[in-house]
Amino acid sequence: MNGTPAGPVSENTIIIIVGTNRKHSMSRQIAEYYHTILQQLHADSYVLDLTGLPSDFTTTALYENTGKNPGFNQFKEVVERARKLVFIVPEYNNSYPGVLKAFIDGMSYPNGLANKKVALVGVSANHQGGALALSHLNDIFSYLGTHTLALRVKLAQIKVHWKDGALHNDLYRMLLQQQAQQLIDF
Ligand SMILES: Cc1cc2nc3c(=O)[nH]c(=O)nc-3n(C[C@H](O)[C@H](O)[C@H](O)COP(=O)(O)O)c2cc1C
Repeated sequence: MNGTPAGPVSENTIIIIVGTNRKHSMSRQIAEYYHTILQQLHADSYVLDLTGLPSDFTTTALYENTGKNPGFNQFKEVVERARKLVFIVPEYNNSYPGVLKAFIDGMSYPNGLANKKVALVGVSANHQGGALALSHLNDIFSYLGTHTLALRVKLAQIKVHWKDGALHNDLYRMLLQQQAQQLIDF
């Protein structure tokens, strides 16, 4: 399991997308944590980290270059094959990262994400937990016909609550557990 979709993933594998290409992101750590929760719930999942995207994908894989970048095609296939996805979304400039929008723009238009079931988790340094970021992203998914789970988890002040590779906040742990179960039942 890593950022590049080399392993076999089926349509029943829940894809956990790390919504930034920033190296060593907190979002990646939360994605790994979510993967552990899904394992405990006996659901197959796979962490897809945008750090693994080809660095030139905005100029070699979008628009008139659709389909021409094998590295990007792998990411696209994994996402478009999946029925369920989790987006771990860091708050950048009071929204979600631009690279995530570029990634979504690289999916098949207009139906690449249609009818998929999606859970949203926000991660922020401040006290908002990415609330607006998730709201912005939810608008995009609504437009694309992607079904988002009502329970959105907002992990505010993440650097206070994540220490030594563990989440030291009972409410956060409970909400993530609840959301993961709801996604399985969705
Ligand atoms: C470009 C950029 C913009 C950011 N903007 C915000 C922000 O608007 N609000 C906030 O609480 N944190 C902001 N942060 C901090 C991140 O939310 C914080 O690093 C958190 O750990 C999640 O991001 P990460 O997954 O990249 O670590 C920003 C970080 C970056 C790199």
